[in-house]
Parts: sequence; structure tokens; C-alpha cells
Amino acid sequence: MSRGKPITRRSFLKATAAFTAASMLPLKLVDVCWGKEGEKFTFGVISDSHLTHIKGTKFVNNFDKGLQQAVAETGLMWPQPDFIVFGGDLAQLGKKEELDHGLEMLSKIEVPIKFVIGEHDFYLDMGRYWEEKVSKLYYSFDHKGVHFVVLNSILTYEDWIKRWRTPEERMLQMARLDNPQGSPFMVGLEQINWLKTDLSKASHDTPIIVLSHSPLYKVFKPWNFWTDDAEVVQGLLRPFKKVTVLHGHVHQILYNQIENISFQAWMSTAWPWPYPVSYNQKLNMVPKMTVFMNRADPFHERDATGWSQVTLEAGRVSQHFDLWENTSRTIAYDEKAGHFVDSQYQDPSKRIPPQMHY
Ligand SMILES: [Fe+2]
Ligand SMILES: [Fe+2]
Repeated sequence: MSRGKPITRRSFLKATAAFTAASMLPLKLVDVCWGKEGEKFTFGVISDSHLTHIKGTKFVNNFDKGLQQAVAETGLMWPQPDFIVFGGDLAQLGKKEELDHGLEMLSKIEVPIKFVIGEHDFYLDMGRYWEEKVSKLYYSFDHKGVHFVVLNSILTYEDWIKRWRTPEERMLQMARLDNPQGSPFMVGLEQINWLKTDLSKASHDTPIIVLSHSPLYKVFKPWNFWTDDAEVVQGLLRPFKKVTVLHGHVHQILYNQIENISFQAWMSTAWPWPYPVSYNQKLNMVPKMTVFMNRADPFHERDATGWSQVTLEAGRVSQHFDLWENTSRTIAYDEKAGHFVDSQYQDPSKRIPPQMHY
């Protein structure tokens, strides 16, 4: 988003209104999205909707509304993004009713959707219904010179899976945040071997975007903001010059840099999680965050929920967050610094201190 004003939810609405009134689209808006093929494009992200079935045709209204709002606003984007990524946790407890309900809502999106699976979609039937109705569990695709890899990062150890008497019990255990009975996520050997072969076809100059549900690094184990074999995946990505990992699951703005790999989270349409204490860099918590991060206030009912859009220019990612109860943010890659920065708040006097609510 180096040229023109970044597109925000308000500017979409304004632009749409202007279009209707004067049949003319503000040029600056076109300028933001339109670039030479292979240089610049935009995609939208909607994630972590956690649609929750009550009974019959009843669902938790608040979560329905979050997804409906994001879908409606996606329809107002002009020009339309090249595609939308759904970042996982469409369902709360993996039920067919929840997944069908979510697919019905998402069917109103007119551009292609790339799906990433979350643990809430997976652990009831180990991803069977998702594979049948929604998408493959892992795959790759190329788009305008960028190689995208979608991973299923929420797998776990076989002996943990066998511990539970019923699929429902297993799902409930994996659905809890702060659960000592839980088990860390992982990508697993089969997928790592697939990834090795997949990446071997790309030159090291190719920009790589990895889409995963859990962070592909170790943020905070007690809450499972964690992928056990993350370093193996990072190792496979190390030879590439421009690597970005975009992930869901943490329901908050979160970004970090580990060597050549930039990491950014996207938010949730359902609820915000607070920031875990790793931010305070206690000795037993990893990792040390390498990039100063301005925090939203995720204990506010709706703060750090919303949606984001991603712009890729020359292989580098900018993410624009539209926060429903806070000022919007743009997290853009800074070539000089070699990592993402919050383009509005990097000045130390403008920094937002960590929020402590617990
Ligand atoms: Fe989630
Ligand atoms: Fe999740």
C-alpha cells in the first residue's frame, strides 16, 4: 500500500456511495489495487468465525453477525479482490450444521475462496466433512508470480487422538483455550515431505506466502498458540528471499520476524483473545518478539475483531486491519528495517502499551 490511501471499510463504503451517486470511482482507489500483473494485487481475509449451533436451525447470533458483516463488506469492495482467504475455525465444534451454515453465508462472496482448516473444523471427524464439502486440507497454487502454500497446521500426536472415548470429547478438549489436557499442533511428516517436493519446484527468488491456521512459530504453549514442528517448516522456507506466513487462530493482531520469515496474524470475526504473557518476555516464555508491536485492546468485546485485507507488492505483504472498535492499522513490510512495522504507530510517542486485564 505504498501509493494512495489504503482501502478501509469506510473508504469502500464511501467509494461505493460515490460510485452510485456519480457513476465515477475515485481514481486513488483504483490506484491502490491495480498494478501490472505480477507486481501488485489484493486479496481479502476472513477468519475464525466460530459459528455455533444451538439446536435445530438456531445458532449463536453474535457470531453469525460477525461473519455476515464481513461477507457483506467483501461484496462492497471495488475493485473486487482477486480472491478471499478463509483462515479456519468456520465452525465451533466441527458439526455439519455449523459448516453448512458457514458455507451458505460464504456462498454470497463472488470471488474464489481459498480455505484453510482450523482445529474447530477438524477434530470432530478428523477433517472428513471439510474435505468432502469445503476444500483439500493442504495444497498450493500460484497467483501473479507468487507461490501460495496452504498448510493444515493443526494436526497432533496419534496417542493424544486415541485418548478420547468419543469424537465429541476429543473435539471439546481441542476447542478449549487454556487446557492442560490439550496437545500441541503440528504439521506432521507427511505434509512436510509434500512441502519439500512442492517448494523444490520454485526458484529462491519466488515470493512465498504460506497460509496456515496456527502460527508457524512458538508463541505461547499453554494456549496452544504453538506449532510443535514449526522449526522444520521454517527450515524448508529458509532458502527463499521473500517469505511471509499469514495465520489465524490467535484472534488478534500479532506480527513477528524470524530470520527471513515474516509472520502476521489475521483477526477473528467472532471474538478477540487477550495477549498472552509472552509479550512481557518472561524467561520461560518464547519467543522474544523481534518487532515492536502496538497492541489493540482485545479484552474489549469487539476490539481486535474485524477483518483485514492483504496487498502484495513486489512480493512483500502489507496487511490492513479494519478494527470494529478501534482505529484501523496498516502493518507494512519495511525493506530498510527488514520486517513489518505498524506504519502509523512506530513513533515511540505514539506507541500503545501492552494491555493487562487479567
Ligand atoms: Fe479461532
Ligand atoms: Fe483455532
